[in-house]
Amino acid sequence: MNPMLNIAIRAAREAGRVLTRSFNRLDTLTITDKGKNEFVSEVDRNAEQVIIDVLRDKYPSHAILAEESGSHSGNEYQWIIDPLDGTTNYLHGFPQFSISIGLKVKGRMEVGVVYDPIKEEMFTSSRGEGAQLNDRKIRVTNRKGLPGALLGTGIPYRDFRFTQNYLGMLQDLIQDTAGIRRPGSAALDFAYVAAGRLDGFWELGLAQWDFAAGSLLVREAGGVVTDIGGGEHYLDTGNVIAGGLKVHNAMLRRIRPHLDSQLSA
Ligand code: IPD
Ligand code: CA
Ligand code: CA
Repeated sequence: MNPMLNIAIRAAREAGRVLTRSFNRLDTLTITDKGKNEFVSEVDRNAEQVIIDVLRDKYPSHAILAEESGSHSGNEYQWIIDPLDGTTNYLHGFPQFSISIGLKVKGRMEVGVVYDPIKEEMFTSSRGEGAQLNDRKIRVTNRKGLPGALLGTGIPYRDFRFTQNYLGMLQDLIQDTAGIRRPGSAALDFAYVAAGRLDGFWELGLAQWDFAAGSLLVREAGGVVTDIGGGEHYLDTGNVIAGGLKVHNAMLRRIRPHLDSQLSA
């Protein structure tokens, strides 16, 4: 196994302990508002520090991009960290959140770990070696199209610039699918696509740390990840579609008509 994957797993487990410990005493947390509907607590910061300590101890020269503390310089190995993906769920006691740790090397994802500490589900991948859930191989579904498909998404809640575009996409996609879910942790949504629990997923305006690890999971599970125009710029734009090949293509066809000059790939 890729030794860097092992370290990422260790870091995710340690951060998981930080998250679960405080999940039973949410009323004691100090919560700050980073901006409209953007909350952060000491749990996000503590979990992030634990992850950085584990990674830096082993790989002191690697660079880091972490949601709460930003960019830490280093060599061409860059760890991309979201210590708590699904903060809103977490702060409401809604048990759907995760830790996301990805490693990018020279612009390409090499390692991805998404951990749900409540269900104790560890989703892992390293490039060329497939994707696993708790050490068992996972695959995206091979559904032939949208009929019967269960899709995940993220509904805009902070940045409303593209709400009309988004609602158009939603309106078109609900017509043909079995249903659409908005679980609230993009990293886990990708992991669920990788595990075949969701047939596809799309969201606008994600940050790299939300889905860098998840995008590798989906690809290594045999799925397709693109930006909303069908191109490769998903990590830069944060506008993303993921799924098995046929579902992905069908989603792309439904989404394309809702792009405009403001919202392109
Ligand atoms: C958020 C979650 C959510 C997605 C948002 C993200 P956070 O991350 O992934 O599902 O819809 O776009 O910002 O803020 O909880 O780390
Ligand atoms: Ca996030
Ligand atoms: Ca976060």
